[in-house]
Amino acid sequence: DETKAGVKGLMDSGLLKIPNIFVRPSEELAQESLLTYKNTTTQIQVPVIDLSDIQSNNADKRKQIVEQVRIASETWGFFQVVNHGIPLTVLDGMIDGVRKFNDQDVMEKKKYYSRDIKRRVRFNSSYDLFTSTTASWKDTLTISFSGPAHPEELPPSCRELAMEYSKHVEILGNSMLGLLSEALGLKTDHLENMECSEGHRLHCNYYPACPEPQLAIGITNHSDAGFLTILLQNQIVTGLQVLHQGQWLDIQPIPGALVINIGDLLQLVSNGKFRSNEHRATTSHIGPRISVACFFSGPLNGDMNKIYGPIEELISEENPRVYRNVLLSEYVANFLSTSMDKYRALDYYK
Ligand code: SIN
Ligand code: FE2
Repeated sequence: DETKAGVKGLMDSGLLKIPNIFVRPSEELAQESLLTYKNTTTQIQVPVIDLSDIQSNNADKRKQIVEQVRIASETWGFFQVVNHGIPLTVLDGMIDGVRKFNDQDVMEKKKYYSRDIKRRVRFNSSYDLFTSTTASWKDTLTISFSGPAHPEELPPSCRELAMEYSKHVEILGNSMLGLLSEALGLKTDHLENMECSEGHRLHCNYYPACPEPQLAIGITNHSDAGFLTILLQNQIVTGLQVLHQGQWLDIQPIPGALVINIGDLLQLVSNGKFRSNEHRATTSHIGPRISVACFFSGPLNGDMNKIYGPIEELISEENPRVYRNVLLSEYVANFLSTSMDKYRALDYYK
C-alpha cells in the first residue's frame, strides 16, 4: 500500500538513495556515456516547424510547411511545432492541472489508482513495470478521451484544465494529420478518414526530482504504438531524448512549443516512409518535470477487429509493400508481449 504514494511519495519521504528497483542494469549504465550526445558541442536539433501560415489561404506557404513535415517525418520521426494555435494559457493550464493533481493528499490520488487499462481515468507509477527491467522514475495519470464524454470521472483538481486542453489538442491533431496526409502525397483527409484520430489519450507524466539521476530513468527507450503523439512539456529541465545516429540527443524545450512524433501505426500505414523513432526521458536533480503526451491511436482502445496495413496509394513497383496487414487485436497482443521494444514488433509484420 506504501507504493500508492507513488514515486513522488518516495521523494517526499526525504530519500537520498533510490531503491534498487529504479537502478538501471549495470551493462546499460556502462554504455551510457558512449550513447549520449554532448549537447554543449553539438548544434543538432530536431526540426522546429512554424505553423502560423497553415490557416492562411496561401497555398505556397502551406506547401512549404508540408515539405518540412515530410522531411522531418522521414528522417527524424520527431519535430517541434510553434505557432500551432493552442494558446499559452491552455498549455500552462494543463501543466498546472497535472501539478495540482500530484500535489494533492495521497488519499485523494488513491481514488484513481488502478492498473486496469480499460479504466478511462487511472493513476499509477511504472505502468511498464512488468515489461521493462527497471521501474520508471515517474507517476502517471492517464485520461482517455474516446467515446462519450464523462467529465465527472476526471479528477476535480484538473478536470476543467484537462478538458480544455483536450479540446484544443484534438483540433491540432487533426490538422497535423492533414499535413501528414499531404506529406504522403494523399488527400488532406486521408489519415483522418482512416480513423487515426478517433479519440485520444492523455498521459500526464510527473517526474519528481531524483537524488541519483544518473542511475535512474524517467521512461525507458521505446517508440509509441499509435499513429501520432503530441507532447507538451514544462520548461524547467530537459528530459526528452531522441535516438539520433545511435546516440541520445536532448530535445530542447522551447517555450510554447509542442513536440510531435510519428508512432508505429503511422510507420506501418505509410509503408515505412515515415519513421517511428525511439525516445526516452531522463531524470534530474531538478524537478518536478511534467509532460503530457497526447496519443492519437485510432481504434486501438476500441474496435480490435479493425485491420491496418500500408495505404494502397503508397505501394508501387518502386515502393513495394513493406508490411502486411495487421488485425488490431494481434497488434496489441504483440505490442504487449514484446515489451517496450516496438522495433521488433513492427519488424514482425514485414
Ligand atoms: C513519453 O514518451 O511517453 C514521454 C516522454 C516525455 O516525458 O517527454
Ligand atoms: Fe513515448
